[in-house]
This record gives sequence, C-alpha cells and structure tokens, in this order.
Amino acid sequence: MPERVFLKLGGSLITDKSRPYTPRPEVIRRLAEEVRAARAARPDLELVIGHGSGSFGHTAAAPYGTRQGVRTPREWLGYAEVAAAAARLNRLVTDIFLEAGVPVLSLQPSASARCRDGELLHLETAPIRDALAHGLVPLLYGDVALDDVRGGTIASTEDLFVYLTPLLAPQRILLATRVAGVLDDRGEVVPVISPADLPALRAVLRGARGVDVTGGMADKVERMAALVERYPGLVAHIFSGETPGTLTSVLLNPAATAGTRIRR
Ligand code: IPE
Repeated sequence: MPERVFLKLGGSLITDKSRPYTPRPEVIRRLAEEVRAARAARPDLELVIGHGSGSFGHTAAAPYGTRQGVRTPREWLGYAEVAAAAARLNRLVTDIFLEAGVPVLSLQPSASARCRDGELLHLETAPIRDALAHGLVPLLYGDVALDDVRGGTIASTEDLFVYLTPLLAPQRILLATRVAGVLDDRGEVVPVISPADLPALRAVLRGARGVDVTGGMADKVERMAALVERYPGLVAHIFSGETPGTLTSVLLNPAATAGTRIRR
C-alpha cells in the first residue's frame, strides 16, 4: 500500500527570513538529500512537496499588501513582482532537488489557482496526478493567485494543501519548519495536539518571527486541526527541519519522535 504524504518545506527553513531574497542553499541541498534517502528506502512513498517563500515572496509582498488584495496598477505590478520572487526561489529548489536525485516536477500554482476572498477554490490537479502516476514528485510553492473578490491575493503552501487534501487524500501532512514544533508557555514542545485542545492552546501560540504575510504557527495549527477533524485518519506533523536526519526519519517512520503531531 503506497503512503501518500504532503511535505511542506517552510520558508523560514529554506531562506534566511532576516535578509531579503536570501536562500539557504546548503539547507535546501541537505533536505533534498534527506528526501532522496527516504524515497530510496521506501519506494512506496508518494510525495507531493510544497515550499514556502520566506524572504522571497514575503519581502516582495509586504510593501504592496498583496495578500489583502490587488487593485491599482502599482499593486498589480507588485503582484507580478511577488510571482517572480516566488518563482525564483522555486527555480533554485527545483534545480537542487533534481541534482540531488529527487525527480521533482515544478508546477506553478498561480497558473491555475483561483481564490474567492482569500480562500482557494480551484487549482488544476491533473498535472499533479499525472506527475504522481509517472513516479515524479510534484513540487508546488506558495504563490500569488487571482481572486474573484480581491483581484489578487497570495495562496500559501498550507492553502494549497488544504485544498488538495480531499482531492488527493494524503495520509500525512508534514510541515518542516525552523522551530522544534508547537511550543507551550514554558517553551517546550507539545508532542500531540487534538482539535479539542485548541481553545486552551490558543493563548500560548505565538506568531512566526520576521515578515510573514500568510500567518505564523498559530495559523498553521488552526488549519491543520480543522483538517484532521474533517478527515479522520489524517495526521499533521510539525517538526524542525534544522536537525540533520529528522526529515528522513519522519518520512520513513510515521511514529518517529519529533515535533508536534496534530490528530484526532
Ligand atoms: C507564501 O507562501 C507565498 C508568498 C508570500 C508569495 P507560504 O506561506 O507557503 O510561505 P512561508 O512558509 O510562510 O514562507
């Protein structure tokens, strides 16, 4: 039985969020190697990878408020600049993963994404399904998106995953970030969260550091909790991709000890 897994490489992990337009190529290379090793050891893994935009898309989007809407000519220029910045990082990630032996097929979300007031309502899935059927690893990324209400907006990797979950039915959603997991008020990792824990947790969830136009950790937890509540059996897992080996071990073993699992 193949296991289908969505994996997000967070923007704060693959870029330096404190410096505009600065990638972390050595980290991207290591993560690519970790994915290669996991696929070699578990040929039954069906991966869909998405990556964040970190200091690329967020830096470009901030002065224009692209997430909130795109109306004026200046804002549409911003839309184009954000798209270009997101694609530039994606080019780098694509090349590094291919070089490392992971057969990624980059698919540009903004080519087909359609939102309504910030909610993603359509994304072409045929190319993703075909890529999977041919043994490739579809590679998506946080990108701009046209929006029926706002003109334009931004679709984060989480938005893409939330939209794709009912269509592609992953067993797990992995979010590799720069932090160890969801931290409690003493700074310790909360190993398991169920949707019922959320009201108590909300008070201690902190936002991500740096410029982030698509929500920080609190937002991730809320979205993943809503998903696991809706799709029984689905597990979301937030962990640090900073420690070498963690990504491979989480990919290989759904019970690996690391970070925070969100499940019913
Ligand atoms: C943000 O995507 C996309 C843009 C700002 C263009 P994500 O929300 O997936 O990226 P990170 O992980 O926050 O950087």
